[in-house]
Amino acid sequence: KVVPPADIYLPERINSRGYDLAVREHLNRYQELRMPYAEKIWRAGPLTAEGANSGEEITICNPAFPDRVVGYVIEADAETVEYALDAARPWDATPEERAEKLRRIADLYEANEGEFYALLTREAGKSPVDTVTELREAVDFLRYYASQCEKPELAGRKPRGVIACISPWNFPLAIFTGQIAAALAAGNGVIAKPAETTPLVAFMATRLFHLAGVPETAIQLLPGTGAEVGGLLSGDARIDGVCFTGSVNTAQVINRSIADALSPDALLIAETGGLNSMIVDSSALPEQAVKDVITSAFQSAGQRCSALRMLYVHQDVAEQFIEMLSGAMDELTVQDPWYHSTDVGPVIDAKAQESISDYIDRAKAEGRLIKQIDAPEEGHFVGPAVIRVNGINDLEREVFGPVLHLALFGKQEQLQDIINNVNGRGYGLTAGLHTRIKRRQNFISDRIHVGNMYVNRNQIGAVVGTHPFGGEGLSGTGPKAGGPHYLPRFYVDEMTNDPV
Ligand code: NAD
Ligand code: ALA
Repeated sequence: KVVPPADIYLPERINSRGYDLAVREHLNRYQELRMPYAEKIWRAGPLTAEGANSGEEITICNPAFPDRVVGYVIEADAETVEYALDAARPWDATPEERAEKLRRIADLYEANEGEFYALLTREAGKSPVDTVTELREAVDFLRYYASQCEKPELAGRKPRGVIACISPWNFPLAIFTGQIAAALAAGNGVIAKPAETTPLVAFMATRLFHLAGVPETAIQLLPGTGAEVGGLLSGDARIDGVCFTGSVNTAQVINRSIADALSPDALLIAETGGLNSMIVDSSALPEQAVKDVITSAFQSAGQRCSALRMLYVHQDVAEQFIEMLSGAMDELTVQDPWYHSTDVGPVIDAKAQESISDYIDRAKAEGRLIKQIDAPEEGHFVGPAVIRVNGINDLEREVFGPVLHLALFGKQEQLQDIINNVNGRGYGLTAGLHTRIKRRQNFISDRIHVGNMYVNRNQIGAVVGTHPFGGEGLSGTGPKAGGPHYLPRFYVDEMTNDPV
């Protein structure tokens, strides 16, 4: 019998379980749960405390089948935004009451999992595996911030006021929920603006917040465009801060609006993009490294801020490595993400598809395309591609799709050049490293400036509570989401009443 040591670490909370779709019983259950929603047409619109919901109706289509309607949404007009801003109030409840409601919302999310799975696939193009991890992350955020707000060091603090939560389409449930859960856990009111392409899942989630008993003045939803609704919110003095996840450019626009319109103490949390690298040296286990490169670069069709964009492979192992990578890419299934065998689904819309495809075509014309696999012609699919770069520093912007850049390196001394390049790009979100040399693991990890460094594994899929996520430099302001430093930012200081 093994007796655990007396000081064994026992977590104070446990993350949700989800399903392992490689297990037949789990897969059957998953299919059964989402099947009733295979054809459902959803309707969504603004959810404001005053009931105002005027605006133009737009149609949301399935990115895998652009002529198939998934639902309709009314995008808030300026009048509805105005109503929401006037009605918004902090959440007047004790930390225990807030925590209890957030946990109830997590339970409601789980009780409605089948509908979320269907919607995440049909509205956002998520593969079944990605729908499961996305729901789990959302639920974990709710329970994590619920536990945090009950801690004695936070329980007595005052909220900032009203926070605008502006979220992207690539995690339309997890990031949407994480931002709101944190702001509400601290007792703030929230006005949430989801991404233009994924309002239906945001609407469904917000309804569950109301169903659980969060007051309508404390959580309102304003679907609409970034320029219009996002612009009106982030430039309005009635809010006390913005919690934003999205591109660097948008973060900079919002930062300027806040500086113009809000108090100097206003909150800005911005989690943005990355130009993420991985280094594979000659001591790496090739099968493991190839598997982790495939996952890091192509899972979620490369539409993760954490995704691998720039791979450096040691020249001594490059030939074999590229051959294995190419073989592994041939095994990828690029198809309608409703099927559980899907590895790579569509990108989000026609604009993304066109811009990523143009980028790959330009590389092909320049003779730099190493490999691209086929993708369905119907739908917004892009076949995963590997592109050679000229020299180790030839990567300028985030291409938000299944595109991997590759460069070879030679002498040991070149590692320092690579580190300088990675740091010199200004982004600092994730980095990966495959080496079995411990000294090198320390050397590189100590010098690369990123929020999340992954050694001998893939570089995506941070886990709430145990593995906080966020970057530095152009990749974000911090603090890391899903970690202990995130929630304190949503309060004013207990002694001075100043924002902290
Ligand atoms: P985006 O910046 O285009 O949009 C994000 C949100 O901002 C959307 O809701 C959009 O409507 C809104 N918005 C756009 N213009 C606005 C404006 N002028 N004022 C206020 N709001 C405005 O980003 P996206 O295309 O939805 O998402 C992809 C980007 O997000 C990528 O760069 C990716 O790396 C990044 N991202 C970062 C993280 C992270 O945690 N660091 C996570 C996911 C995505
Ligand atoms: N948190 C997400 C990941 O780690 C973006 O991939």
